[in-house]
Amino acid sequence: MTQSVQAVLKQASQILVSSGVAGAQRDAKLLMAFVLGFEPHQVALHRDAMLDVDQELAFMATIKQRASRVPISHILGYRDFFENRFILTPDVLDPRPETEQLVSHALCEDFEAVLDLGTGSGCILLSLLAKRPLAQGIGVDQSAKAIAVAKLNAQKLHLSARVQLMVSNWFSEVPTTTFDLIVSNPPYIHPDAMAALSAEVLHEPEMALTDHNDGLSHYLNIAKQAHDFLTPNGRLIFEIGFDQGAAVSEILSQQKFYDIIILEDLNNHPRVVACRASDL
Ligand SMILES: C[S@@+](CC[C@H](N)C(=O)[O-])C[C@H]1O[C@@H](n2cnc3c(N)ncnc32)[C@H](O)[C@@H]1O
Repeated sequence: MTQSVQAVLKQASQILVSSGVAGAQRDAKLLMAFVLGFEPHQVALHRDAMLDVDQELAFMATIKQRASRVPISHILGYRDFFENRFILTPDVLDPRPETEQLVSHALCEDFEAVLDLGTGSGCILLSLLAKRPLAQGIGVDQSAKAIAVAKLNAQKLHLSARVQLMVSNWFSEVPTTTFDLIVSNPPYIHPDAMAALSAEVLHEPEMALTDHNDGLSHYLNIAKQAHDFLTPNGRLIFEIGFDQGAAVSEILSQQKFYDIIILEDLNNHPRVVACRASDL
């Protein structure tokens, strides 16, 4: 027997609630829109429509995945980030809304050449290049699978001509040139904090999450080498964990960066640290 969109949505929301999914109704609606090929806001307009058997089966298959805590972006295959839609796979970090703050801050000034260390899906680098039609960029990641996803996104956003994407251990394969902007959202979760992460986060690549050290080791590693790749006065901008503002600022100060500022997110947590190389 076929059921209405509304009736199936109700059942699905109950399944998600009982599986501990936060935002169960929202996710059920997003998945219904995905299966029916609508925009999410159109679902309400079709709530009395009857689903055919194939539609109901397809929808319930996505609900089963979500109930087993697969992130919604992995089921949809995309995430909207800043001003664009990015292709996502389980090989890359699901871009977080907090990271948009790094992009906004980087865009406060002009730049011609940008380097993104740990580019993942390419969300930071490609968002920046999309807003600066004359800029060029390099994005690196230690994961070849992540670089493949970033390349798909560069093609999708028609940015391939202005971007180089390569496998590299931070700066190891970066050509000897200088950038007026270096951005990075490195893995910064302390290994002791991994166990407390949500079930969804554990579906993401571990190498995108933690440094298996003290959560700070990548900041130090990058800061030590960044001077060689920055133009005089060039900017280095990091995303940081909510409790890492003081520690990352200290690392940058010890590595002779100046104009160090910490930006807070909407919850008043430190989220971005920006600084400059010397002007000599
Ligand atoms: C927190 S994710 C950030 C991904 C993306 N930039 C974003 O903001 O959504 C960190 C990224 O750094 C990459 N990574 C980890 N260690 C690396 C290393 N030694 N060299 C280059 N990339 C690395 C991971 O594969 C992952 O894609």
